[in-house]
Amino acid sequence: MDDRAKAALEKLGSLPGMFVVKEQVEQMIQFAKISKLRTSQGLKALPQSNHMIFTGNPGTGKTTAARLIGEAFTALGMLKSDQEEPPFVEVHHADVTHPHVGQAERTIKAKFKEARGGVLFIDEAYAFVAGETSHMTGDKVIAAIVQLMEDMRDEIVVIAAGYPQNMEEFLNENPGLRSRFPTTINFPDYEVSDLVQIAAYLCVEREYTMSKPYVDMLAARLLEEKQKPGFGNARTVRNIIEQSIRRQAARVAQMAAPSRAELVLLTEFDMPPSENRVTEKEMLLRSLGSLQERLREIERREILFGPMN
Ligand SMILES: Nc1ncnc2c1ncn2[C@@H]1O[C@H](COP(=O)(O)OP(=O)(O)OP(=O)(O)O)[C@@H](O)[C@H]1O
Ligand SMILES: [Mg+2]
Repeated sequence: MDDRAKAALEKLGSLPGMFVVKEQVEQMIQFAKISKLRTSQGLKALPQSNHMIFTGNPGTGKTTAARLIGEAFTALGMLKSDQEEPPFVEVHHADVTHPHVGQAERTIKAKFKEARGGVLFIDEAYAFVAGETSHMTGDKVIAAIVQLMEDMRDEIVVIAAGYPQNMEEFLNENPGLRSRFPTTINFPDYEVSDLVQIAAYLCVEREYTMSKPYVDMLAARLLEEKQKPGFGNARTVRNIIEQSIRRQAARVAQMAAPSRAELVLLTEFDMPPSENRVTEKEMLLRSLGSLQERLREIERREILFGPMN
């Protein structure tokens, strides 16, 4: 396998919690390879489409994974390209909310052209079908996307990302969409243990280490943050680490001659204070609420299918 592709896949696999994503991508790569071999032997091969749907909440690593996948696909020659660096082009629905349908379609075409040989990443794809653009523009833009995805199948991988329920809506919007996105990759919310691993990864990247009390405090803090609406997963971790690094600098700056170890270590004094603290009582009440919900679900299932083991 090409070195650059290998490096991109290794990086993907080394990110905490991304192992499953890497495996799914490797399957697509193997499928492409075998299809090519079959075709060269005169055998039938399913038409290959590398377009993907990414579902997941904010900060679960969708954009990060999309960039690495683009690099791997281009390096492997799965996308026709004559460029050294594969392009990574993002489209947001705000880019195509023109009062004139023609203008919106032209913008989409330009974005596809720009992404030739790489990834076109459509963030919050459902926004194209919901809200302000749900009139004519939305339909026309989606029809244009469907057409371009087909025409440029060999040159571009389109990745449409968004929350799971919303992506269902998006796929239902146009009958051509579902079949053109044969692969869906789900990016689940991270557990606290994954988030702590992500923190460790981010620290290594920045040449810092976490003291044991810092890690304990971080785990408790992340458990608390996870309960808040709009929790930002890995992005929240990154923010906490970067704030800690700034606080550590202020603390270490007071020392006369900080040692190398002191320059590197994040301690419990560097943890930024939490905003809008959720009280312990509130957290327990929420856990109780989700337990009750789960119990009700089990009871419903038992009524329908009999007792569960
Ligand atoms: N598994 C991971 N390990 C380490 N860092 C990660 C991981 N996932 C995400 N990150 C980091 O967290 C931040 C947010 O990730 P990213 O932008 O890829 O998330 P996203 O799912 O695209 O979020 P959004 O839905 O808000 O666009 C980035 O700085 C990224 O480097
Ligand atoms: Mg993103």
